[in-house]
Amino acid sequence: MIQERVGILGLGSYLPPKILTNHDLEKIVDTTDEWIQTRTGIRERRIAEKGTATSDLAAEAARRALNDAKLEPTEIDLIICATTSPDMFFPATACLIQRKIEAKCPAFDISAACSGFPYALGVSNGLIRAGTYRHILVVAGEVISAFLNWKDRSTCVLFGDGAGACVLGPARPNGNVILSTFLGSDGTQADLLKIPAGGSAIPPTKESIESGLHYIQMEGSEVFKSAVRTMGDAVIEVVKRAGLNVEDIDCLIPHQANLRILNAVADRVNLPAEKVYVNLDRYGNMSAASTAVALDEAASNGAIHKGSLVVLVAFGSGFTWAATAIRW
Ligand code: UT7
Repeated sequence: MIQERVGILGLGSYLPPKILTNHDLEKIVDTTDEWIQTRTGIRERRIAEKGTATSDLAAEAARRALNDAKLEPTEIDLIICATTSPDMFFPATACLIQRKIEAKCPAFDISAACSGFPYALGVSNGLIRAGTYRHILVVAGEVISAFLNWKDRSTCVLFGDGAGACVLGPARPNGNVILSTFLGSDGTQADLLKIPAGGSAIPPTKESIESGLHYIQMEGSEVFKSAVRTMGDAVIEVVKRAGLNVEDIDCLIPHQANLRILNAVADRVNLPAEKVYVNLDRYGNMSAASTAVALDEAASNGAIHKGSLVVLVAFGSGFTWAATAIRW
C-alpha cells in the first residue's frame, strides 16, 4: 500500500563505555589536547574493546530503537546497515545484525561512508512510500578504530566508535514525518579519503600492510572545503524540496567531523550557530553513526521537540553527501 507519510517510529543508540581522551592520545602520538580542541573541537571519543565488532554495537542500538518504537524484531520487514567499518567484507553487517536481534527479513548494507545514515533514510523513505516495505530498521554502526593508523596523528585523533538506529514506517498520528530527502556524490574526488588496500584494487599483501595501506588516509584540508560546500548546498536543497526555507530550520544535525566545519556550514547557509547540534566534543567523528547518534540524543535531551523542523546533513568519502528534513 502506497504511504504518503513516513516517520521515525523509534530511535536508539549505543556507545562503547571505554573513553579515550585527548590527553590519552598525547601518550600515543605527537599531538596535544590544545591542538585537537582548537582544530577540531573534540575532547574525547569512545573506543570499542578488542573483539567487539560493528554488529555488536549496532545490534544493541537496534534493540533500543525497536523498544522505543514498541515493535518486535519479527515486525521488521527490512534491515539496512550503514557502515564504513563492516565486520567483514561479506556477509553484510546487516545480516549479522539480523541474526543478533533475531529478526527475519531481508538485510543489506549501504556503503556511503559518513553519509550512510541519511543515505539509508533516503532509500528507506522511498521504499516505504512505494509500499514495498512497511517497517525498516536503519542501523548505522562503526568500529572505525579498527581502521585507524595509531601512528598517523592527522587521522587517529579524529574518529570514534558508536552506533545509532531508527525504525521507519508509516507515520503515526501526532508522530514525526519525513518531509524530503536528498542524496549526492562525486566519484572524481574518491582518492581524497579512502582505505586504499584490502579490496580487489590492492588485495592485502605483506607489502600493503607494511605500507599501512589498510588504514584510513585523508587529505584533511581538501576534504574540509568540500564538506562545507556540499553540506551547505544539501541543507538548502532539502529544505527547498520540503517547500520551506533555511530560516524555518529549528535544529540542524550535521555530521560531526569538526566544529570548524559545523560553524562554516552554519555561516554558509546563514543559520545561527545555536541551531546546530554538536556532540563531537564527546564522541569525535563516528562516520556513519554520527548523525544517527546525534538524532537519538537530540530527541531525548530536549534539543528537538514536537513541531521542530529537523534537518540531518552529512558528508563523507566517495565523496558522498546527503540530507533529510523531518517535521518532528
Ligand atoms: O568524516 C568525513 C569527513 N572528514 C572531515 O570532514 C575532516 C575534514 N578535515 C578536517 O577536519 C581538518 O582538515 C583536520 C582536522 C583533519 C586537520 O586540520 P587542518 O587545520 O586542516 O590542519 P592541517 O592538516 O592543515 O595541518 C596543520 C598542521 C600541520 O603541521 P605543519 O605542516 O603546518 O607543520 C600538521 O602536521 O597541524 C599538524 N597536525 C597536527 N599537529 C598536532 C596534524 N595533525 C595533528 C595533530 N596534532 N593531531
